[in-house]
Amino acid sequence: TQIPEVEEILGKMSLEEKIGQLNLVTPGGGVATGSVVSEGVETKIKEGNVGGVFGVSSPEKVRQAQKLAVENSRLGIPLLIGSDVIHGYKTTFPIPLGLSSSWDMDLIKETAQIAAKEATADGINWNFSPMVDIARDPRWGRIAEGAGEDPYLGSQVAKAMVEGYQGDDFTAPNTMIATVKHLALYGASEAGRDYNSVDMSKLKMFNEYLPPYKAAVDAGVASAMTSFNDIHGVPASGNKWLITDLLRERWGFEGFVVSDYTSVNEMIAHGMGDLQDVSALAINAGLDMDMVGEGFLTTLKKSVEEGKVSEEQITKAARRILEAKHKLGLLDDPYLYSDESRPEKDILSEENRAVARKAAKRSFVLLKKHENTLPLAKDAKIALVGPLANNKNNMLGTWAPTGDPQLSVPVMEGIKNVAPDAKISYAKGANISNDTTFAKNVNVFGPRIEISEETPEAMMEEALQVSKDADVIVAVVGEATEMSGEAASRTNLNIPDSQKKLIRELVKTGKPVVLVLMSGRPLVISEEMDMPVSILQVWHPGVEAGNAIADVLFGDYNPSGKLTATWPRNVGQIPIYYRMKTTGRPAASPSEFQKFKSNYLDVENTPQLPFGYGLSYTDFEYGETKASSDKLNKNGSITITTTVTNTGDFDGEEVVQLYIHDKVRSITPPMKELKAFKKISLKKGETKDVSFELTAEDLKFYNADLEFVVEPGEFEFFVAGSSDHEFTNEFTVEE
Ligand code: IFM
Repeated sequence: TQIPEVEEILGKMSLEEKIGQLNLVTPGGGVATGSVVSEGVETKIKEGNVGGVFGVSSPEKVRQAQKLAVENSRLGIPLLIGSDVIHGYKTTFPIPLGLSSSWDMDLIKETAQIAAKEATADGINWNFSPMVDIARDPRWGRIAEGAGEDPYLGSQVAKAMVEGYQGDDFTAPNTMIATVKHLALYGASEAGRDYNSVDMSKLKMFNEYLPPYKAAVDAGVASAMTSFNDIHGVPASGNKWLITDLLRERWGFEGFVVSDYTSVNEMIAHGMGDLQDVSALAINAGLDMDMVGEGFLTTLKKSVEEGKVSEEQITKAARRILEAKHKLGLLDDPYLYSDESRPEKDILSEENRAVARKAAKRSFVLLKKHENTLPLAKDAKIALVGPLANNKNNMLGTWAPTGDPQLSVPVMEGIKNVAPDAKISYAKGANISNDTTFAKNVNVFGPRIEISEETPEAMMEEALQVSKDADVIVAVVGEATEMSGEAASRTNLNIPDSQKKLIRELVKTGKPVVLVLMSGRPLVISEEMDMPVSILQVWHPGVEAGNAIADVLFGDYNPSGKLTATWPRNVGQIPIYYRMKTTGRPAASPSEFQKFKSNYLDVENTPQLPFGYGLSYTDFEYGETKASSDKLNKNGSITITTTVTNTGDFDGEEVVQLYIHDKVRSITPPMKELKAFKKISLKKGETKDVSFELTAEDLKFYNADLEFVVEPGEFEFFVAGSSDHEFTNEFTVEE
């Protein structure tokens, strides 16, 4: 259905003005999110050559930008104001991979709501988030920005984020348009190298990679961003099958599609022709808005004149942009998001920071417990060491361009806040890395890796000195911010050598050691897992980092996160994920090599840490799992129940997970598939029943004809606290 207000404007527009609406610009000045910035932005806005701007914030600046458009351009059409609000606006939450490890969808939605409240207070009405790309290759730096490897969990997170950003009323001044990105398959870049090619079967796409994008569309996401990679040989921004056939026609998406930063122009380097060719390819594929590259602005008119693009195609795209502006209420009030009184009360409030602290502690994953080192006593003598122990520059994590690292709480400060009676002796102990070229590559947005004047030996000596009288050593180690993220792929996933050496020496002291591990991705930590240490994975925790870490170290909060991406034993195992297929020659033993079976000579098939894994200070025991029936009718459901008991000494929370295996079907099935989960809390000694309702619909998959079906036959299932478990029960789906 057409919107009369939009049609009226369209009726007045020249071809040039329609093309102008398809142009998204960034004046630069803030943190650059691409390699070029737009020129002559003011003039272009006045001339009606701009549909949206990003990289501009604050009610005053946004008001000025809107004024330029409303008062100076012929038709006075207001602008979309975009931004990358990836894990919080100024109140920075944990990186998305960390947030997903909370398995807490209400919490994730709440973080998105706060992000929307803060960003809209600063004038933004369109967010380039959520990133829902499935990632099964931790070499890829942008694994940090998504929800990990699983299509089911990824779909739940996508829905929660879209609902959080958009709310149920677009015209409310504290909601904004969300963008599902990057359509599609960006997380499958070959060899984990950013922007690399993707070549994937449709079966794999539909069953493993596309579900989270579709979940965002089903949740009503109002915009979508194409990815940098090619799909079946055609770059996403010019891929008609992707944008029109799949997204619009098959999935019923009604919003607008924007390219990624200069990704239309980048089709030239992909080998698709010159700027006019690739711009025509993109608009004809169904792309509506061109981010920064201005191929649309500079070539589409010529393409219309030459009959390569129809004016109707341009009208359709302009209509979608105007519809978004109408949806946001901008056509009625261009200054809806320019309320100068809002930033002070809505941004970085105590309330918002409290949610950041809650989100951070709930995202942490206890990877290893050694003896009863954790939680720490609040009056302990603590040697606090490591390059990330007293460091503000690396707490926010990648892609937090709107956050201020200097407002973050470092670990040392958090410990002092939570345990004022603890006696802390501090030493940096090591640089994040001693490699100056690597540090230069990482430090593009600021001094994330600072190489000290002191020699590595002197730093180490100091760490050993401060450890001498300590009851416990807490070493805060791992990756700097921007060792993950965009264009931050790594081929070596170890903790950098400088820090590994420090860890080895600390362990040699014989004191209890806790590793607080920061990273934007799964790391290879086989050496550290074999050491007599406890390991708490904290990702990059956001603005409340230190407070949240201290809450967990001292037991005010019992860690409850579970991994959402598999941690490999070594880089050679990649890609490794829990939904792998059995193959025709599955290894019978996970650990022993067998000739002529699908395994490696030098490493076992199992990962270091599986999907769904995470420990707690307490212990959970699972009782018998039962199903209400061993038959599932195609239109019916069964209820699967188990009991979980907290058998340890602390109250705690557990993520109870249901996995199935479709034993026989027309296309080879994954070994395991997550189908449901619940996060429950249990007091010490408490037992709870947990049940899941499973319908035949939940068992559907895309068959060889890409039909979404459930096939009759036997299924196995289990309920556990991790994906690493044997199947315990069976049911049959009836004809
Ligand atoms: O939204 C981002 C995208 O994820 C990567 N390229 C730049 C865009 C805009 O900043």
